[in-house]
Amino acid sequence: MIEKRTLRVALLGAGSVGSQVAHLLLTHREELAERAGAELELAGIAVRNLDAPRDVELPRELLTTDAESLIVGSDIVIELMGGIEPARTHLLTALTSGADVVTGNKALLATHGAEIFDAADQVGASVSYEAAVAAAIPIIRPLKDSLAGDRIQRIFGIVNGSTNFILDKMDREGLSAEEAQRIATDLGYLEADPTLDLEGYDAAQKAAILASLAFHTKVSLEDVHREGIENVTADMIEGARRAGFVVKLLAVCERLEDEGEEAISVRVYPALIERDHPLASVHGGNNAVFVEAAAAGALMFYGAGAGGLETASAVLGDVVSAARRHIAGGVGVGESPRMSLPTAPIGRILTRYQVRLEATDEPGVLATIAGIFAEGGVSVATVDQSQGDEGLASIVIGTHRAREQALSDTVARLAASDAVERVVSVLRVEGE
Ligand code: HSE
Repeated sequence: MIEKRTLRVALLGAGSVGSQVAHLLLTHREELAERAGAELELAGIAVRNLDAPRDVELPRELLTTDAESLIVGSDIVIELMGGIEPARTHLLTALTSGADVVTGNKALLATHGAEIFDAADQVGASVSYEAAVAAAIPIIRPLKDSLAGDRIQRIFGIVNGSTNFILDKMDREGLSAEEAQRIATDLGYLEADPTLDLEGYDAAQKAAILASLAFHTKVSLEDVHREGIENVTADMIEGARRAGFVVKLLAVCERLEDEGEEAISVRVYPALIERDHPLASVHGGNNAVFVEAAAAGALMFYGAGAGGLETASAVLGDVVSAARRHIAGGVGVGESPRMSLPTAPIGRILTRYQVRLEATDEPGVLATIAGIFAEGGVSVATVDQSQGDEGLASIVIGTHRAREQALSDTVARLAASDAVERVVSVLRVEGE
């Protein structure tokens, strides 16, 4: 029997994902060696604090605070520290010293992805990052490999588990945003800096990564239009429920035509989804991503979007694949950002909207409101009027697909009109 080669694996970070990765590498060693075609020797685990409590117990002798020494001489470097620095420097060192890299660092890839991928291309190494988007759900490899022969038109879905948990609690249990957020915090669902989740940064980083792959174009965080769930109230959720919708924080990446040119739009915002749409049944901290491709049609990827063990599954898959490449030799499969499609401004997107207003309940008011929509070139699809507070009429107007710019101009005119007391909310409707 030919003896297997041993590959040195360096792990940077032993948080909730890192500690599970270390545990699996140590306890599944034989099985992983069979799959990878090489012994995967966990050479060390770089941590900031040797004495920090861990989710699983790790051999003390593997822990080190000297990441640089651990990286140099390793065949595979797994980066699960998160953040930009020192993760960026460590990954560049790993690549220049000949290692293949596995990372779950969405913030780094969404801001410095081009630099990392260029460094990998220069030395022919591979950078794998299945864990960076939607944790356990295989979505990077399908986009990069399985669908490489197809033309992706649109990706949309729920890529942030903690905000989905909060919105789901509000929808199903009638909780306020504060109550739902408190439960999510107590369960440890939110990032250490909760604004990353609540203000949509986490979802925007993932959207940038997905769009780069889907459209073969360099898309970074600043190309993503981002709105979080900070302004979503229990009242909005209840209004959506009455109208047959559920509110979800969505990431949308799509091709569109902008002034005759092919362009892309990448955006994250809370939007209405019809209650019978599959995304409406994505509950708790789960994620789901729809990919629409020209030949394959619509594909749905669903599962756990967070969690130490679940995310470790994605990391280990990348480690096995990096080990196989390392053994086989040859250059790593690089990214393909060669299309350089421009990003269209948010005003150019076409979608449906639901506008909630409060207006005086008098003859001619509805006609005035309808006239403002008509002047703005926004076609009304549905009108629902009910008795609001203090003798005011509560009016919910659903539109046909309209340009965002036309809709926002219309909303500004509504807000300025004497017929309208207050524009209560404006939400996009996605999922067609
Ligand atoms: N904060 C992320 C989420 C964790 O809530 O989805 C997984 O990336």
